[in-house]
Amino acid sequence: MDIPVWRTDFEEIDSTNSLCLNRLADDFDQRLPWLVVAKSQTAGRGRGSNQWWASSGALTFSLAIDVTDFQLTKERLGLLSLSTGVSICESLEQSTEGLRLSVKWPNDIYLKDRKLAGILIEGVPQRDGILVVGVGINTHNTLRDAPSDVQVRAVSLIDAVQDVSSNDVLVNDIAQTMLRGYLSLGEDLMFGLTSLRERWESRSMLDRRDVVVTSGPLEHRGVCLGIDDLGGLVLQTSSSRKTLYGGTVRLVENGGGSSG
Ligand code: BTN
Repeated sequence: MDIPVWRTDFEEIDSTNSLCLNRLADDFDQRLPWLVVAKSQTAGRGRGSNQWWASSGALTFSLAIDVTDFQLTKERLGLLSLSTGVSICESLEQSTEGLRLSVKWPNDIYLKDRKLAGILIEGVPQRDGILVVGVGINTHNTLRDAPSDVQVRAVSLIDAVQDVSSNDVLVNDIAQTMLRGYLSLGEDLMFGLTSLRERWESRSMLDRRDVVVTSGPLEHRGVCLGIDDLGGLVLQTSSSRKTLYGGTVRLVENGGGSSG
């Protein structure tokens, strides 16, 4: 059975995340979970200070939730981010024949070695526990005419598989899978996180790979061992085992160069 969701659609908007953050700051009547979908964004935002540029046909949406509806607390927000990535993979694979996706910590989604989707999770500063989970997925936007530097880093479903469901079908399925994932995360936490850890690690593109994590001015190099109970990335460095809760990861190629 579907979990009830309130939905608002826009033809064009600056950013679905910004819309949710601004409205939810003082609108206590907006029912949650709230799904905001835009056909096009003029100022889509990515993690850090990055912009999120998406050409026509991409799927861009935000899902606003109250974490207390899912028995989650602030300390567990890292896990919510991992859960979101895995749920999106599972939903897209379910609706797309032959598709197999990977996750790159913390929550990027990859098809082979190219990025398919990104996630930006933001808290509403004025309201404790209300989060906006923004998702951008290259679905029906071909990247064939994109600049070559984009083509080597990114991929769109329409260029990679035969049949892609409409964005309208995809967004409903993905939102439901994300919400079911958050519910089961609340239960999973009572049993030592077994289910999310297995689901995430089985599709992690970093597992047992040599990586560099950049976190502010610091760089940590090591072999990725998986995630801890709070969703941190566990690294075996040359001197010790380290767990990182934020940063940007890149894979180290065999020859010592890096990418990703
Ligand atoms: C990233 O990989 O850096 C995260 C990208 C997140 C983009 C989505 S598109 C819908 C939502 N609204 C935004 O402004 N950003 C997110």
